[in-house]
Amino acid sequence: MIILGIETSCDETAVALVDDKKNILSHQLFSQMEEHAVYGGVVPEVAARSHLKILAPLVEKTLKDADLSFNGLDGIAVTCGPGLIGGVMVGVMMAKSIAITHNKPFLAVNHLAGHALMPRMTENLAFPYLLLLVSGGHCQTVVVKSPVDYDVLGSTQDDAVGECFDKCAKMMGLPYPGGPHVEKQAQFGNPRAYDFPRPLWRRTDGGLGCQFSFSGLKSAVRRAIEKEMEKTKKEALSPEVISNMCASLQAAIADTLKDRLKNAFDVCQEKKYEISALVVSGGVAANVFLRQILEVLAAYKNVPFYAPPLDLCTDNGVMIAWAGLEKYRLGLMDSYDFKPRPRWPLDTL
Ligand code: KG4
Ligand code: ZN
Repeated sequence: MIILGIETSCDETAVALVDDKKNILSHQLFSQMEEHAVYGGVVPEVAARSHLKILAPLVEKTLKDADLSFNGLDGIAVTCGPGLIGGVMVGVMMAKSIAITHNKPFLAVNHLAGHALMPRMTENLAFPYLLLLVSGGHCQTVVVKSPVDYDVLGSTQDDAVGECFDKCAKMMGLPYPGGPHVEKQAQFGNPRAYDFPRPLWRRTDGGLGCQFSFSGLKSAVRRAIEKEMEKTKKEALSPEVISNMCASLQAAIADTLKDRLKNAFDVCQEKKYEISALVVSGGVAANVFLRQILEVLAAYKNVPFYAPPLDLCTDNGVMIAWAGLEKYRLGLMDSYDFKPRPRWPLDTL
């Protein structure tokens, strides 16, 4: 069984082919990063136009790379949301055109389910598992019970964790997207140089145990930057200050995620979930420092820890093809008039 996966929900145009033996037959990705970098963030209109230009040749390239034609495919999977609706529509129209023309099953994939199921392709991972989903638009603790059944234990009340990395990096004068730059700079810095807050630290009252909040941390970083600039009377931060600030920010984020996850483990126990593993997925899961902290937590909780390989953490077509394949195996094909959705929470699948 071979599934084609298409991803266009943000700033990556991605297409891949995956089979049911967990082989990646082709994996193509075109990043629009440079186009958006000048604006310091993703511009939806620019993204949609760029997807439109790139997608058709990228689909052709993917098939050619695997030496396949449309006839050799068993299904067409595509991100139908959540995401920037202009881009999502470009991908969905392409997938529907292929599916209708070649009379193939159409598989509507939730982008978050794509991130959530990715580790099932790279590992032998059984349901249910505890997932920390951390990306540019999302931050959630979720129990993954099946490809279409998710118990969202908590999510962010304001910014997503990747957004916090990106906005803080921008304030420090680092390029977009900031997450990988913060990680790189943090290697040379002192994580205790700045005493940044750990939002909701140890709070479990009022249902807050598995929730996240990053706006306060972002404000604390802004105040620290302003203070440094006042001190030096300069418009830019020194490399040493940037490294120290990045290390302190990364440590605050990792501590916060660990604290929230500890509560998530408690909730799993209360709800009697026998979780098979702790899994981290989404763009921020590419952060090696964070992975190390989570690995220690998983060992302490006596469960294995899994994270997809770095290039499968950030947005890609493989995760969409794989999530589509999981649906296909359950016989969950979608109708050709499935509507793209800008918002599509995991617990409503
Ligand atoms: O999953 P993703 O590719 O796109 C969304 O669905 O949002 O995630 C992108 C996010 C960006 O905020 C980016 O800065 C962050 O993932 N990111 C990282 C790292 N690599 C990517 N954050 C921290 N450390 C990294 N190494
Ligand atoms: Zn994503």
